[in-house]
Amino acid sequence: MTSETTTQKAPVEQKEPFVIEWRDGFKIGIVQIDLEHRHLFTLVKALNLHSVRQTVDELLNYVVTHFTNEQRLMEASQYPAFEQHLKLHEEFGASVAEFMGNSEEWTEDRVQELRRFLNKWLIGHIMTHDLRFGKWYENRNVSIQSVPPKVNAPRGLFARLFRINNQAD
Ligand code: FEO
Repeated sequence: MTSETTTQKAPVEQKEPFVIEWRDGFKIGIVQIDLEHRHLFTLVKALNLHSVRQTVDELLNYVVTHFTNEQRLMEASQYPAFEQHLKLHEEFGASVAEFMGNSEEWTEDRVQELRRFLNKWLIGHIMTHDLRFGKWYENRNVSIQSVPPKVNAPRGLFARLFRINNQAD
């Protein structure tokens, strides 16, 4: 055996990023909400170690915007399960705040973990709870197609968590 063969290095193993693409099967049938969900998938996909702080800020701000818009549409259409849905948004906010509070340092693994959590949560939430709202909305045949976005007064624990998070930045 020569020294050449014993000093060769194994190639560095690159992890494939965890990415779930948006698809039309995720639509709930309310145009404004579907567009916002799609944009959330785009922002999750854009998460990477080099620009993670900026993308996380943008993503969390957009989550607040989306939740606020969705909740306002629920309130305006008198969705009977509104309070339960608000609670789910708040629980998500608490989970993200806990994740963000766990460590200051961003690594490839932590970005991957965040992307995986967000994708899984979004799909589970959209395909169960948002879709339930979409079907109720369609069956009720309400005429409200959208409500003007109002991003400065989100309700509940979720809003408080993110305001704290934003102030800390
Ligand atoms: Fe689209 Fe209930 O979040």
